[in-house]
Amino acid sequence: MSASRGGRPDKRRAAVRLRRARRRKPSSARWLERQLNDPYVRAAREAGYRSRAAYKLIGLAETADILGPGQRVVDLGAAPGGWSQVAAERVGRQGRVVAVDTTAIEPIAGVVVLTLDAHGADALDRIRAALGGQADLVMSDMAAPTTGHAPTDRLRVTALCETALDLAEPLLAPGGSFLAKLRQGADSALQARLRRSFRRVRHVKPAASRRESAETYVLATGYRGDA
Ligand SMILES: C[S@@+](CC[C@H](N)C(=O)[O-])C[C@H]1O[C@@H](n2cnc3c(N)ncnc32)[C@H](O)[C@@H]1O
Repeated sequence: MSASRGGRPDKRRAAVRLRRARRRKPSSARWLERQLNDPYVRAAREAGYRSRAAYKLIGLAETADILGPGQRVVDLGAAPGGWSQVAAERVGRQGRVVAVDTTAIEPIAGVVVLTLDAHGADALDRIRAALGGQADLVMSDMAAPTTGHAPTDRLRVTALCETALDLAEPLLAPGGSFLAKLRQGADSALQARLRRSFRRVRHVKPAASRRESAETYVLATGYRGDA
């Protein structure tokens, strides 16, 4: 297999080495070489996904039954749209996917796109109106540019996860799921809040998440609702 939608990429191809280009900075050359040799980048391009991140969601959805036909899904931090493409395929015509990002997203079949800031005062109302009912899954891949200072980066991603949870709690149906990007060494207050709101909380690093990255995902299932 070279790549198919939902399949695993072929990692056996020969590595591509860049010839020295005088005008390319070493950091750009390293980035380009990594992109050219990344099986998930290649698989995403061949399968028509807009980002290699699509394979993170595919891997995460193998961990728990969180994406299925007829579901309503909110995708926070959705640009350029890989996760939304995967979600739209899985929920099918009877489901609904609402994609949210501050950056504009090119239209995706079966997805309602909202260009807005998840921190915005109108975010909850606009998402709720677009969703047309309670959500089965609220997922967030929201990320801020990294600073290279690990504690600062962890605080930023934790704050984005809390914002996602602030939106998820009023949107989710009882029994619903929450999936969000975090960094390793998660905040204990956030953990406690997740455990109060959901029956099961796991931390998962999908195969497509780069080994050298501190990125991880929290997957919380069985939303308790107001009970
Ligand atoms: C890693 S990318 C998401 C990739 C996406 N999951 C995909 O599959 O293509 C992170 C996104 O989070 C978005 N983001 C960060 N902060 C946000 C906020 N406050 N509101 C909405 N989107 C935000 C960024 O604009 C960026 O597009």
